[in-house]
Amino acid sequence: MITVALAKGRLAQESAALLKECGVDADVVFSDTRKLVLESEDGQYAFFLVKPSDVPTYVEYGIADIGIVGKDTLMEEDKDLYEMLDLKFEKCKLCVAGYPAMKKQLTNSHLRVATKYVNTARKLYASRGEDIEIIALHGSIELAPVTGLADVIFDIVQTGSTLKANGLVVLEEVYDISARLVANKVSLKTKADVLLPLIEKMRARV
Ligand code: PRP
Repeated sequence: MITVALAKGRLAQESAALLKECGVDADVVFSDTRKLVLESEDGQYAFFLVKPSDVPTYVEYGIADIGIVGKDTLMEEDKDLYEMLDLKFEKCKLCVAGYPAMKKQLTNSHLRVATKYVNTARKLYASRGEDIEIIALHGSIELAPVTGLADVIFDIVQTGSTLKANGLVVLEEVYDISARLVANKVSLKTKADVLLPLIEKMRARV
C-alpha cells in the first residue's frame, strides 16, 4: 500500500484530482467524512488528511510515502525529504506587504515584520544582513499593519484581495509558490516499482 499525506482543504481536492488523472483511485478524498485515514476502494492507497504544516513531518518520518503541499510550507518546515515535482497549481507569491508609504522604509533597522512564516522570514532577513523583529502570528496577518502591531507583513498573496480590502499593497515579491510533490527518502527506494512510474505520470501531466 502507498500512503499519501494531503493538506486538508482545497489543496487536497486539487491533489486528488491530479492523482486520479494519473490512475490513482483517489475518489475517497472527495467524500464528506470526518475520517482522517481514507483508504482507496482498490486497497492500494491510504490518504492522510492533515494540516498543511504537518505534511512534511508525515513524509519525513515515512508514515506517508509521498505528500503534496505548498512550497511555502516546505520552506518553513525544512524537513529531510525529497522534493520531486513542481505541480504548478495553487500558485501564489510570498511577499512583503504593507502600506504604500512603507516602500521607502523597507531597509529600516528594527522593522517589525508580522508573519506565520517565522523561519523563512528569519532566514531571508539574515541573508540580507537586516536586523528586524519578527512578530509571529497564526492568521489574519494583514491585521498587523492595520492595527500598528507591525510595520509590514511577510505573507502569501494569491488574488491580492485581502491586501486590497485592507488598504495594503505588495512592497516586494520574494518567492514564487506552488504545490509540490514530496517523497520519503526510504520509500522512494523500497516502493520504487510503484512510486517512480506514478511520479513520471505526474511529471507528464504538469
Ligand atoms: C491567506 C494569506 C492571506 C490570504 C491571501 O490566508 O495569509 O491572508 O490568504 O489570499 P488573497 O491574496 O487571495 O487575498 P488564509 O485565507 O489562508 O487565512 P489566514 O488568514 O487564517 O491565514
